[in-house]
Amino acid sequence: MATGEWTRSPNGDWTGGFFVGQLWLAAATGNGPVETARTWTERVRPRAASDTIFRGFLFWYGAAIGYRLTGDEYAKKAALEGAYALAESFHPAAGLLPLGSTAEEAHSVGADETNIDGVPGGAPLLYWAADLTGDESLRLKARSHVARHLELLVREDDSVVQSASFDANTGALIKTYTHKGIRDDSTWARAQAWAMLGTAQAARYEPDAFTADAVRVCDWWCDHLPEGKVAYWDFDAPQHEPEPLLDTSATAIAAAALLKMRTVNPARADEYERTARDMVAAMVEHHLSPPSADGPPAGILGDACYNHRIQLATKNELVWGTYFLLESLLTLTGQLATHEL
Ligand code: GLY
Repeated sequence: MATGEWTRSPNGDWTGGFFVGQLWLAAATGNGPVETARTWTERVRPRAASDTIFRGFLFWYGAAIGYRLTGDEYAKKAALEGAYALAESFHPAAGLLPLGSTAEEAHSVGADETNIDGVPGGAPLLYWAADLTGDESLRLKARSHVARHLELLVREDDSVVQSASFDANTGALIKTYTHKGIRDDSTWARAQAWAMLGTAQAARYEPDAFTADAVRVCDWWCDHLPEGKVAYWDFDAPQHEPEPLLDTSATAIAAAALLKMRTVNPARADEYERTARDMVAAMVEHHLSPPSADGPPAGILGDACYNHRIQLATKNELVWGTYFLLESLLTLTGQLATHEL
């Protein structure tokens, strides 16, 4: 936050697509050259071979949205490669795309696990590829992936838990838990936000199957959002501390999801837009560094919490938060229609 210098993850880890996605957003709005975005999609492409559910994030944001926004053929080719490689990892017994052996978090739990963070990105990538190629097996995998996550991870009160272990032979649920929340029965802000985004993306392709779920996980968020309109890093984190930790990255994901909900559930479009606008305004007014001659560079979205458990980057800018704030700002200012992203 202080200097604006980024800490980078080797090979882009699960986050690399969000930087590339920003370059595609810039290209689509005349704020940057397509060639630059394409060069970075080239760097994402070899990751098709990585055994991780987060190929969904890498190839949706790092390639597919580039094609959707600009018609770039290279981005389309890379995105299809990522989609087909990801679909290969489908676990028939569990009916979903599991975490995978090289996913962030697999090192502590193994590969036959699943995370709600694997639904956004992964689901639209397979649906989009199914539409483009006519390959219905991709659509079936996407549908099952989303439905199983909702079944395993959305609680009765519509809050969301991050992760589940399943029996590798039968696919039966063993337990639910969290890698990054405060407790297994708490609601980690990004679990709720990723669920909102993933179900909003899936509902655009299959409204009958997923609109009701998208509405309920979004309602939970809106009903529990603190007065300041920026979420705590975990909704159950102690809130009596003098300065409770926030997560602007979760808030930005949720704002982007609510803006997509305007087309998923048009009857409540105004309400979704109002809440998203309030959240975006709170982030911009209180958590974005302003232009200044001698301060930090302008436009740093601070106060995002990566991993409170290991005290890593608990009050920092996180690249996906910046992506979703940019996507939301371009949407709210009428510069880009993002309901298909
Ligand atoms: N693993 C995704 C996240 O930390 O939000």
